[in-house]
Amino acid sequence: MTPCDAHWMGLALELASRGRGFVEPNPMVGCVVVENDELVSSGFHQFFGGPHAEVEALSHCDPDRVKNSTVYVTLEPCSHFGKTPPCVELLIRYRPKRVVIAMQDPFPAVAGRGIQSLRDNSIQVDVGIQDEQARELNAPYLKLLEFGLPWVIAKWAMTLDGAIATHGQDSKWISNEQSRVVVHELRSCMDAIIIGIGTAIADDPLLTTRLPSGSTPARVAKRVIVDRNGRLSPQSQLVQSIHAGPVIVATSEHADQARVRNLADAGCEVLIIPEQELSGSLRFVLKELGDRRCTNVLIEGGGTLLGNAFDENLIDQIHCFIAPKIVGGLGAVRPIAGVGKSLMSQADQLHRMTVECLGDNVHISSFLRRQC
Ligand SMILES: NC(=O)c1ccc[n+]([C@@H]2O[C@H](COP(=O)([O-])OP(=O)(O)OC[C@H]3O[C@@H](n4cnc5c(N)ncnc54)[C@H](OP(=O)(O)O)[C@@H]3O)[C@@H](O)[C@H]2O)c1
Ligand SMILES: [Zn+2]
Repeated sequence: MTPCDAHWMGLALELASRGRGFVEPNPMVGCVVVENDELVSSGFHQFFGGPHAEVEALSHCDPDRVKNSTVYVTLEPCSHFGKTPPCVELLIRYRPKRVVIAMQDPFPAVAGRGIQSLRDNSIQVDVGIQDEQARELNAPYLKLLEFGLPWVIAKWAMTLDGAIATHGQDSKWISNEQSRVVVHELRSCMDAIIIGIGTAIADDPLLTTRLPSGSTPARVAKRVIVDRNGRLSPQSQLVQSIHAGPVIVATSEHADQARVRNLADAGCEVLIIPEQELSGSLRFVLKELGDRRCTNVLIEGGGTLLGNAFDENLIDQIHCFIAPKIVGGLGAVRPIAGVGKSLMSQADQLHRMTVECLGDNVHISSFLRRQC
């Protein structure tokens, strides 16, 4: 290991992160080619099905320069034929002096074979430089691989006294325009956005992604409503905007069948939650989304659904927007209802917190400790 390894791997990680929203369910990967501490070439995996980071970095390089170089890559190079040929073969052909890898890829078709092939071909390989950062970057990919569940982000906007709506259920608007821009940027990287039926009825939201620049979002999220009794109105904005993105109504056999048929006729996908899963309906929905290889999902409330999500330990990350407003009232809607904890020592501990001011709003982003 050289003192410069961390620096160059840091650059490769920064490049990798530019694929966020475009590459999933693939991992984000970056690659940097360095000769005598000088950058020769770099690349990253830009979109799902596109060339891998190593191909992006190596294919425009002079092969003679690569022979003297160190190649830094944020994830073990693939050793199998997927949508593209194995990157390990490319590396063996270019034969760099050394390959530095942040972390092994747990993907079963790779899982150490890429590293072994390089070593079998007498290329020096060092593994583990900036591996914690690499794991954090690809935490959603790793979670989906290990547990078959998507990475779950909770988002809410609240007043300074902790209300997401007044006692009259009014919530428009709590956060400012700048906060709402951040929410739309967040949505643009999501595979699904989930709300409870209470929010669908109270707010009649669209849940589409509208980026201020008018640019096309990286992906179009499925809009999922957890609605065991089939109360979603076919006249709701969600159903009326079906052309803008799929709507999934997660319901049950108890729901009025005529109402459910109307929703299906209007273009919604109806997902029936089996009887034995009804109490854990959110977990069932997440498992179903995981089976569809959804990597990132955003739960946008309301308090009842998010409360259940925290009670069931389903949340990995939060985004909270706090506005300098006070509405008071015991009956105001709280962001996280559910059962909650009886002791402070049982509180979910957040970590890696970032705080930013967005005009007069405060945006807090953080992670739940147990998952990272
Ligand atoms: N400021 C914000 O960021 C924000 C965001 C969202 C909402 N809100 C506000 O929050 C209020 C709505 O919140 P809410 O708590 O009444 O409704 P909610 O959480 O949106 O929906 C609750 C309903 O979802 C259904 N549900 C299905 N599976 C569930 C599960 N596993 N756990 C919990 N609920 C499940 C239940 O109805 P069934 O039993 O019929 O399935 C439940 O009554 C509105 O006033 C809205 O304006 C504010
Ligand atoms: Zn590859």
